[in-house]
Amino acid sequence: MPDEVILTSSPDAGPIALDEIRAVDKAARLRRWLEPGIGWAELGIPWETLAARWRAQPPVFCRHICPVHVRLPLQQTPDDLDKLVELCWQFSPGPDASYPFSVQTRLIGGGWSYTRFDVNTRLAHVWLEHGGTLDVRHPEAVLSVVLTPTEGYLGWSRAADNLSDWAGGVRRFKWEADQISRAEFKLLEALEVFKLPMPAGGLALDLGAAPGGWTRIMRRHGLRVTAVDPAELDPRLAADPLVHHIRQTAQQYLPKLKETFDVILNDMRMDAHASARVMLAALKHLRDDGWALLTLKLPERKAGDVAASVLAMLRADCRVLGARQLFHNRSEITVAITHH
Ligand SMILES: C[S@@+](CC[C@H](N)C(=O)[O-])C[C@H]1O[C@@H](n2cnc3c(N)ncnc32)[C@H](O)[C@@H]1O
Repeated sequence: MPDEVILTSSPDAGPIALDEIRAVDKAARLRRWLEPGIGWAELGIPWETLAARWRAQPPVFCRHICPVHVRLPLQQTPDDLDKLVELCWQFSPGPDASYPFSVQTRLIGGGWSYTRFDVNTRLAHVWLEHGGTLDVRHPEAVLSVVLTPTEGYLGWSRAADNLSDWAGGVRRFKWEADQISRAEFKLLEALEVFKLPMPAGGLALDLGAAPGGWTRIMRRHGLRVTAVDPAELDPRLAADPLVHHIRQTAQQYLPKLKETFDVILNDMRMDAHASARVMLAALKHLRDDGWALLTLKLPERKAGDVAASVLAMLRADCRVLGARQLFHNRSEITVAITHH
């Protein structure tokens, strides 16, 4: 029996995520889309081999993957829960009962007579009885449960092999009272996913800063910020003496720049290649041990090709620490870079 997986991407990027699997496993084939961006696929190589290849070189558009070890028919009635528990008794524990674990359930479609929390609770209990410890935020092992109205898919894996600690890569943050923009979620997620160390103080350059969400987060970490954008910043930031607003485009400002920065950010609404070129010019002003982060806005058509071409251009001139279509990215990807 070939190994099977559930892969998850943004709804539009499903075919690109599938191509990313095929790039490391030519024989992989889609069984079917459970919904746009969530695919059930059959591998030509063992799941562990795919996981090891992606640990070495992670994909960009596939934001979550988990193996499928068992499937079962479902009726969307509470009986399903008993069947799931029974299956878990047969197949648990997964990799090692002593690992901190989490059960991550996704319900696809409507008409459920139970919630994903009901499933999580019932199945977690099975693993707890095996002596496991529950750690929902930082699990080492995960029981992934994907339920459609007619079929359930269960698989055990190391969280590190799933590409994300969160079910389906869905990482949500709470909206904060003084939050300025939705874009802040992108930055918070990128800091976490790419494990970027925040310097204690220092200076940040924020290209395409308005209305100022990313600048706000940098200020919250104690950095002074040079915020470059022809558009207005939120009045709360405009009044902050440690935010220096340059009302110019990045292209106008960079040639005059003398300072060096600890962090450089670029969330400019701009063609991806053009934005990467601006970023490479800005990199001359990044400290040797600093890092930079940019979003690349992708076209609707050929998004995967454009992303690959811009990443190749960046890799020629700097080290790419990570590149991912994050949960909070729409038609874009986020890339973390540093000096070679
Ligand atoms: C998505 S918004 C940035 C949101 C911001 N990161 C935040 O958290 O609030 C994109 C910004 O890029 C700016 N922009 C577009 N082209 C630019 C350029 N050439 N130089 C500087 N800023 C630019 C736009 O004015 C716009 O404010």
